[in-house]
Amino acid sequence: MRIMVVGGAGYIGSHMVLALVETGHDVLVLDDLSKGHADAVQGVPLVKGNIADSTLLDDLFGRMNFDGVMHFASFIQVAESILEPAPYYENNLVNTIILLNAMVRHKIKKLVFSSSAAVYGEPQVIPITEDHPKNPVNPYGKGKWMVEQILQDYERAYDLKSISLRYFNAAGADPLGRAGERHLPETHLIPLLLKAAAGKADPVTIFGTDYDTADGSCIRDYIHVTDLCVAHLLAFQALMSGAPSSAYNLGNGHGFSVWEVLEAVKRVTGKPVPFQIVARRAGDPSHLVADATRAQVELGWQPHYPALDSIISHAWNFACMQQ
Ligand SMILES: NC(=O)c1ccc[n+]([C@@H]2O[C@H](COP(=O)([O-])OP(=O)(O)OC[C@H]3O[C@@H](n4cnc5c(N)ncnc54)[C@H](O)[C@@H]3O)[C@@H](O)[C@H]2O)c1
Repeated sequence: MRIMVVGGAGYIGSHMVLALVETGHDVLVLDDLSKGHADAVQGVPLVKGNIADSTLLDDLFGRMNFDGVMHFASFIQVAESILEPAPYYENNLVNTIILLNAMVRHKIKKLVFSSSAAVYGEPQVIPITEDHPKNPVNPYGKGKWMVEQILQDYERAYDLKSISLRYFNAAGADPLGRAGERHLPETHLIPLLLKAAAGKADPVTIFGTDYDTADGSCIRDYIHVTDLCVAHLLAFQALMSGAPSSAYNLGNGHGFSVWEVLEAVKRVTGKPVPFQIVARRAGDPSHLVADATRAQVELGWQPHYPALDSIISHAWNFACMQQ
């Protein structure tokens, strides 16, 4: 299959490219490098450009026969989206519509979309199933949910089939060390803890230790980036075999508290991790844990790296290779 990976120079997209090449697909990456890294795109062509550029999309879609698109291109910082909603709606929503419209013009009818657990908002039940009410509480999550709803309309009207994958916390790195997480700025817990352990960052800020959890810190579901990529392969395969559009949670179904993650980082790295405790952040639920049964049953997906220590040690290996 020939697949365009938009946002393929970013964290998850660059791992996806490795997985697609390994499984024999023909890949082209389109990324504006606003957040990604050109050297993260390995072994496939990279076109530097924005998904908002319909002329460029018409050229690429017109010249090359793509079977489908995997869409990772968006801004990802929840807190920033609250302070600056405009670029989030513009990039994550408007630019996605431009991409979808180009796909429709060129009759490219298969899309795997990177959605997020942020579509659910404050959980009413844990673990969270796909049928949980969607009450996103920030512009980032609202944009993802709007795209999912637009995709339903595009299927009805234009027969564009899509699978939206709602990731919980993507973490870890390629087990062979070829790729890893290099967000700038970094806001995710595991890379921040690893940077602090390596003495390359200020103490990690822990937001709130008075939650209604066993140790008082927030509980999140961490899913290995390589497992996410396998789910994308399965989702794309399902679409090519005629599966209907759908949405799936991707998580381990097991939550780890901030303190548990910090202890695991100390264990894996053998180093102390400096931290400071501050007050809770508004809008941070105490628990966010996925029920990913639907992806397991319908796509045949199973996480291969559910253990926190594997996730952290792969991320640590990659971090050490960057020094
Ligand atoms: N990282 C997570 O834990 C997580 C969790 C849930 C959902 N997601 C979603 O997964 C996707 C990938 O996340 P990531 O962590 O790899 O982010 P990332 O920032 O590392 O990668 C995004 C890539 O998209 C590119 N990009 C952004 N806007 C673009 C545009 N308009 N045109 C072309 N390229 C553009 C960036 O340059 C970057 O390379 C995002 O859609 C994100 O919302 C991520």
